[in-house]
Amino acid sequence: MTSKATGSITVTVEGSNKSTTLPLLGGTLGPQVADIRKLYGDLGIFTYDPGYGATASCESTITYIDGDEGVLLYRGYPIEQLAENSDFLEVCYLLLNGELPTNGEYKAFHKGVTYHTMLHEQLRRFYDGFRRDAHPMAIMCGVVGAMAAFYHDNLDINDAEQRRIAAFRLIAKVPTIAAWAYKYSIGQPFLYPRNDLGYAENFLYMLNGVPAEEYVNNPILSRAMDRILILHADHEQNASTSTVRLAGSTGANPFACIAAGIAALWGPAHGGANEAVLKMLAEIGSPENIPQFISEVKDKNSHTKLMGFGHRVYKNFDPRAKIMKETCHEVLAELGIKDEPLLDMAMEMERIALSDDYFIQRKLYPNVDFYSGIILKAMGIPTSMFTVLFAVARTVGWVSQWKELIEDPSQRIGRPRQIYTGAAARDFVPVDKRG
Ligand code: CMC
Repeated sequence: MTSKATGSITVTVEGSNKSTTLPLLGGTLGPQVADIRKLYGDLGIFTYDPGYGATASCESTITYIDGDEGVLLYRGYPIEQLAENSDFLEVCYLLLNGELPTNGEYKAFHKGVTYHTMLHEQLRRFYDGFRRDAHPMAIMCGVVGAMAAFYHDNLDINDAEQRRIAAFRLIAKVPTIAAWAYKYSIGQPFLYPRNDLGYAENFLYMLNGVPAEEYVNNPILSRAMDRILILHADHEQNASTSTVRLAGSTGANPFACIAAGIAALWGPAHGGANEAVLKMLAEIGSPENIPQFISEVKDKNSHTKLMGFGHRVYKNFDPRAKIMKETCHEVLAELGIKDEPLLDMAMEMERIALSDDYFIQRKLYPNVDFYSGIILKAMGIPTSMFTVLFAVARTVGWVSQWKELIEDPSQRIGRPRQIYTGAAARDFVPVDKRG
């Protein structure tokens, strides 16, 4: 489905007789969009939107967010319904193909993913090149990028079948790459994937299992992991997805594009926030220090942010945070954790922040990362792996968006413009004449 013309907008340059009429476009949901493509040609004017807060960079049929109402839809389905009734592989199928699978389609998709879970044995040797204390996100950027050197048979982005196989390879291998990054850091043997286990179950097995002991799966924890994967699977044109699309617009291969997305995700303002939330809670130390911390956050000169709060698009509760909070309580109950000081602190922090004018006026609510860190910590996942987990989940979103970009006939290389504020043209001065 493509956007439709819904009207027009006339732009007049004040103090001159120059003006132009721009089309307004409408999608299925969401605000109208002014198509400014001919603005420069007609008026010689660029638009300025640092951070792209008001700019649609593409048409997409994958994910819809209504930030004021706290709505998140994957291919039209509310995230709450998917988290409750679906599983991650089914959501992967939905994001990639646009529809929920039939039984037969699901089975074939499951087989397609499990067929590709192992890594090339030589890729295993890459890990030895990293220092023992390397951050697993650094390993992820390197190893995922290196996949392009191993899978030459699906680097032709113009071949639909090669794109399909690349999608399977990325979704299937990323958990193996991630689990091995962790095993490497703790000096334990790498475990090969087990195709008799579900996606989340197998990931937990590769993270927590050891060859010396039989692995016992906990269905509640696997379900919680599956839900975390679903909640993080896609989020329309966020920083890492836009990075994947920008890299993809140059014709770069899918492995290079996803590695670029992983690098963008790493930052604490984006996927690194779940790790940053736990670091923040540990630094605060105890609930009585929260008011002092909150005053620091409100002091602009401190550059301190309340991690896990705020979102560029959600100006209401992040719907993912609500589900995450419920999952958090389920996991803690399952593990018999009655008094988790970090959770108590997080809840106290949420209570104080939600009643504080600073946060109310700026519409800052807990986001998905506020609770995910606490769940993952309770599940025994080390802090340095939190963002990696986000990358595992988001790979399907990145791949779906990359595929959509390549299949869009109107796609061009991404190339923003700028307002140049540097020196005007001037002549070179030889070094002995410079004062
Ligand atoms: N703590 C304190 N103040 C904040 C926070 C925060 N977490 N977030 C925004 N603000 C303030 C900001 O300083 C600004 O104040 P003022 O109007 O006085 O200048 C106002 O709220 C508006 O914020 P903004 O900087 O214009 O918001 P943004 O859309 O540019 O940034 C954000 C969004 C997510 C980067 C930011 O809220 C943030 O850094 N949050 C903490 C990091 C975090 O939790 N990130 C995870 C996002 S969800 C997962 C994901 O999608 O990756």
